[in-house]
Amino acid sequence: MRQYLLIPGPTPLPREVLEASSKQMLNHRGPEFGKILAEALAALRRVFMTRNTVIPFASSGTGGLEAAVVNLCSAGDTVIAVTGGNFGDRFAAIAQAFGVNVERVDVPWGEAVDPAAVRAALRRSPQAKAVLVTHSETSTGVRHDVGAIASFVRETPALMVVDAVSSLGAIELRTDEWGIDVVITGSQKALMAPPGLALVSVSDRAWAATKTATLPRFYWSFDRMKADLGETSASTPFTPAMSVVFALHAGLRLLEAEGIERRFERHRRVAAAVRAGVAALGLRLLPKPEHSSETVTAFWPPDGIAPNAILDAMRAKHGVVVAGGVGKLAGKIIRFGHLGWIEDDAILTGLRALETELRNAGADAGRGAEAAAREILVGAPA
Ligand SMILES: Cc1ncc(COP(=O)(O)O)c(C=O)c1O
Repeated sequence: MRQYLLIPGPTPLPREVLEASSKQMLNHRGPEFGKILAEALAALRRVFMTRNTVIPFASSGTGGLEAAVVNLCSAGDTVIAVTGGNFGDRFAAIAQAFGVNVERVDVPWGEAVDPAAVRAALRRSPQAKAVLVTHSETSTGVRHDVGAIASFVRETPALMVVDAVSSLGAIELRTDEWGIDVVITGSQKALMAPPGLALVSVSDRAWAATKTATLPRFYWSFDRMKADLGETSASTPFTPAMSVVFALHAGLRLLEAEGIERRFERHRRVAAAVRAGVAALGLRLLPKPEHSSETVTAFWPPDGIAPNAILDAMRAKHGVVVAGGVGKLAGKIIRFGHLGWIEDDAILTGLRALETELRNAGADAGRGAEAAAREILVGAPA
């Protein structure tokens, strides 16, 4: 049975990317690999919408979050962190683990932060070193308005640091135009590559902060990683995840052929289609629609129906793999991921499977989820 993978990363990969990831190894310090890495980093700068250096760590996205903390902060510093989801909470926990004081701007799970609350926190803690915000909070399907928050953080000494692990390359994020100092993403989300790379862009203001930050760091040192990242040839001090770099290089080619603005628009359209399908089933979104992420849609099952039984039946009977809740939403919600290389067919099959299995579970589900989504995806009802 074909598998339809509709989780918010890792994502399915196009054939060109799979082929690139199976290439033979090269000398990781030789000219051929140096050129591939340099090209990938140049393409990444365009996707990050920045002129800043992008650093490629061999790690999952969380390593990039930890790298941001240890390069920018000293023990006893204060940071402001938007929490209210698994990943916002994780960023705060990393800072705390290193002895950084965390002033939380806590929002209920499923809500977007009010930028005014972050501004108030900055007034209370004007010495804050950084403001940590998750762009797309994957656990709740909420998109926080990082543009609005950056517009006043950039006027203060605090650095604006954004976890864009499940948004970069899919949801509008204009690093330089919006004045964002550090942006972190992972290869396995919208960039159409396998897991294995954390990618971090670092502004001049952030480089200046690294000079006085005293938290211990070795593998995660921005300085050490940057030393040989040249324009035409790049290498890293530690063995890079070469197969993932090959794949990323191929994925970025496809991404650039599509165009970043068209990509943002496509993700908006696919997310609107999934929301229309969910609404047709009579189900309630967790976030307000205007705060719903364009890469992951989170919604409640019908009253009295356990989501995990529905997810099991979708996987076993239809080959459709969607995500449940995590953290305090474990066993409570359903999440459809739709980022990177998304086939309309997978979205429509996913909604049809959901509709069938809700009905098999005895739910009084509405009808026509697939048709509602199809109308937005291809412009006409089936
Ligand atoms: C918003 C966000 N931040 C951080 C992470 C952590 O990334 P990783 O699992 O690659 O360490 C994820 C992973 O799903 C995420 O969605």
